[in-house]
Amino acid sequence: MQQRNIPEEWLEEFNVNVNFIDAQHQYFFKVLKELEAMTRSTICREKISEIFFSLVHYADNYLIQEEIYFKGLNYPGLKEHHLKHNVFVTGIINLKDDYATGKTQVCDTLLVFMTDYFYEHILDYDARAVEYLKAL
Ligand SMILES: [Fe+2]
Repeated sequence: MQQRNIPEEWLEEFNVNVNFIDAQHQYFFKVLKELEAMTRSTICREKISEIFFSLVHYADNYLIQEEIYFKGLNYPGLKEHHLKHNVFVTGIINLKDDYATGKTQVCDTLLVFMTDYFYEHILDYDARAVEYLKAL
């Protein structure tokens, strides 16, 4: 398990220039930065429930919004994209369960999980989907 560097701040180049998608990506990034700051202190285990709360909000509101947007444009990769979102949601649920059952290392594991999602899904998968749709 390796932790990649997280950018200091949200950069212009991360935007896909679809307002609601950029807004939800920036929301995710803000939560990621909060978790990163928490893992550097000793408060993470006590405060991690707030991070889970924010992530559930993100999944419940934004992922579905994105799928509706893709569906409206008949995006052919929607099914696969939906599955990727499900993998993310399942991962969060599993980590929440680990936290509830007192497993240690939840903070670090969640940080790696979210960082991977940030790079692999937000900056790559979502960006490619929007690029495809814009080119239609
Ligand atoms: Fe997505």
